[in-house]
Amino acid sequence: MRKKLFIIPVILVSVFFLFIQNCSPANQSQAGKPGEYPTKHPDRIVATWNQDPATSFNVTWRTNSSVTEGKAMIALAKDAPKFHLKAKSVEAKVQKLKADRVGEDVKANYHTVTFKDLKPNTMYAYKVGANDEWSEWFQIKTACQQEKPFNFIYLGDAQTDILSHWSRDIRAAFSKASDAAFIVHAGDLVNHAHRNQEWGEWNLAGGFIQSMIPSIAVPGNHEYWRYTDNRDDPRLLSIHWQKQFEYPRNSPEGLEETAYYIDYQGMRIIALNSNRKIEEQSKWLEKILKDNPNRWTVTTHHHPIYSSGEGRNNEELRAAWEPIYSKYGVDLVMQGHDHTYARGRTKNIKKGVNVRDQGTGTVYVNSVSGSKMYNMRDTKWDPMGGVMKRAAENTQLYQTISVSHDTLKFRAYTASGELYDSFDIVQQDGHLANKIIENPVDVEERTFENTIKY
Ligand SMILES: [Fe+2]
Ligand SMILES: [Fe+2]
Repeated sequence: MRKKLFIIPVILVSVFFLFIQNCSPANQSQAGKPGEYPTKHPDRIVATWNQDPATSFNVTWRTNSSVTEGKAMIALAKDAPKFHLKAKSVEAKVQKLKADRVGEDVKANYHTVTFKDLKPNTMYAYKVGANDEWSEWFQIKTACQQEKPFNFIYLGDAQTDILSHWSRDIRAAFSKASDAAFIVHAGDLVNHAHRNQEWGEWNLAGGFIQSMIPSIAVPGNHEYWRYTDNRDDPRLLSIHWQKQFEYPRNSPEGLEETAYYIDYQGMRIIALNSNRKIEEQSKWLEKILKDNPNRWTVTTHHHPIYSSGEGRNNEELRAAWEPIYSKYGVDLVMQGHDHTYARGRTKNIKKGVNVRDQGTGTVYVNSVSGSKMYNMRDTKWDPMGGVMKRAAENTQLYQTISVSHDTLKFRAYTASGELYDSFDIVQQDGHLANKIIENPVDVEERTFENTIKY
């Protein structure tokens, strides 16, 4: 009897402590939309690179604020399930998301690891978490140190209806090119720069794809907004950007992780921030184009050199970067912002001969992957000095790009998987411009008139 009397207070005290622990504000799961609020379990797991893709990669993830330490485990991905017994542990850098300054009520910690000293061309498995809360194992293959053929995906603005409508697009892209080495996001990933719920949608829509295929993203104008309602405040980069993405810090000052370049198996991918410091980036761009050992060079930025959206024209940007692209023979420029599809190049002065610059074969593409759609400019690119060769309105698209020694094969597909645009860029010997081979696609140009009413 005395023993029983002793047990009752012990149980009561234990229940009380369990209650306190689980109901402390940090552990409480806030009610919200799926993926909006963090728990102790890692979510928003995104792979990126901030150094050589042949020997490293980064992963970021989110937890609630009660998880103040994060860890990742990494192992060679072997086929025997006990591969994990050989895993190494890596400590994460932890950063608090200061969301109250933008009027958001989320309390989250972001965790970042950089896996280093990896073997090139090797499949690794990793998981992230801490204590009893771990993600599943994801696999990522490191790049080769030499030039070697590979594929990647390019997506224009996701921005609106991200979970309901963009998800099908990124998933269709993954189904078409599941071996993609990376995914280029040309800005406007969300509509409201700082809104946690929209970043939740972006992560839910991309899900495990983004945990296993590194993202190469640039910010659009929608990734910049004021912290408060005060109209005099400056528009600042999304509070989520640098928590979510870990990029090389090789940009001009003040553009860290929004402008950078990465070399991947014979291709230099240059990400530019078309929202800020255009002149500073011009100088930087020239420098990294001059000193570029790669056979292929592509760039991505949000605002297009040649606008396809009604009433839009980025003259300053075109004046600054188009001559540099021509001069250094940049092969392909991937852009967003105009919520239409447009593909073409700088106009030749004489028919068939590119008199402006013998060395240019630069192809410009604007695309859109989400649900927001604009009208095409009536005059297309003509008054701007560009020739548009393929266009679309009112169409969600994704692009797959295969790169080999001499040829870059660019394919644009509609969200339902129809091939909509197809061309190959072929490198010529010497200093000749690239040859562009247009592959016939038997699909009428899509417009607001011949598609479902917007
Ligand atoms: Fe946009
Ligand atoms: Fe935009």
